[in-house]
Amino acid sequence: MTLDDSAIGIAMDDELRICEAPQKNEHPSVVLKDICSRRRPQGHVIAFANEKGGVGKSTLAFNCALALAHRDADVLVIDCDRRQQTLNRLLEAREGTARALRIALPQPRRVVLDHQSGALLTQEIERLGTSCAYVVIDLAGHDSPIARRAIALADTVVTPVNCSPTDLDALGRVNAVTRRFCGAGPFAEIVTGLRAERLALGQAGFDWVVAKNRVRRCEHRLQASINQNLATMARHLGFRAVEGLTERVGYRELMPFGLSQFDLRLIPDLGSSPSASVRELRQLVEALRLPEPAPKPAQARRPERESAPVLARTTESYREAMTSVLRACPAAA
Ligand SMILES: Nc1ncnc2c1ncn2[C@@H]1O[C@H](COP(=O)(O)OP(=O)(O)OP(=O)(O)O)[C@@H](O)[C@H]1O
Ligand SMILES: [Mg+2]
Repeated sequence: MTLDDSAIGIAMDDELRICEAPQKNEHPSVVLKDICSRRRPQGHVIAFANEKGGVGKSTLAFNCALALAHRDADVLVIDCDRRQQTLNRLLEAREGTARALRIALPQPRRVVLDHQSGALLTQEIERLGTSCAYVVIDLAGHDSPIARRAIALADTVVTPVNCSPTDLDALGRVNAVTRRFCGAGPFAEIVTGLRAERLALGQAGFDWVVAKNRVRRCEHRLQASINQNLATMARHLGFRAVEGLTERVGYRELMPFGLSQFDLRLIPDLGSSPSASVRELRQLVEALRLPEPAPKPAQARRPERESAPVLARTTESYREAMTSVLRACPAAA
């Protein structure tokens, strides 16, 4: 169903009153009531969420969306962080790179959620993602009504955490001496509350995956302690803790081009992707245990858009800029 502007407008007017103002203590039953009154998306919804900012939500969402797109799956990306729009800008840069280099790169569909409205979230999924196998939602680093609705809607919730004890506070606390669980953190309370409400309504709960990010191999003792705390919290809070990504400059340096390590093999003459980072990204996506996408019917493919001609000089400049970045990145970065 395609919703016309007036339908979206009406829904937004209604919803803005409810959702624009922060309602920190909105009960899970209110959120679930809102979500359940709307049509569920067909694709598998993956929400990247953590109340803590700067932990790698957008980085993991970007790489995960591209890993799935590289498997020839239709992917819709919804950027709910309308102030930063990190993920949307990365995908915009990616489209520019593909045009400038005149290469075919798998491109997820993308949309920024301009209004923090549960109605708009589900409407955008219906408008753009009816044929999509996966819907990847990137959330801002704070609690909000839309974050709660995205979590309530998700099939998989991915929470990246940086490997520092204070970064685990949003999840929970573990006594440093006795190693006993002391209680859930504010973000974990929201996630477990929404999951409990789903179960109470007879729905399936979502898979909650906590993925470490920016892991530094040299910090053995700290890593062991973080792993132990995560394992304790996982037992009490019901998430799966998985190995995520290590700290790699390669994840950052390709960002201005909207590229991930998966893409380098598709770009002639620029060398191959460092195998360690590609392996790590693949392992992360495997660890999410996402369902296999249904094979795409031939007619579901979008027709290639006629792209504007690109000057040879533009292509050359892009190549030069990328080559200098890749030269600066050692093979294992
Ligand atoms: N594994 C990694 N290796 C190196 N740099 C990383 C890694 N993961 C994330 N970063 C960098 O850390 C910074 C924060 O990452 P990102 O923007 O993905 O976090 P975020 O959780 O989405 O932040 P926000 O809460 O502000 O939306 C970025 O500069 C990103 O490039
Ligand atoms: Mg972000």
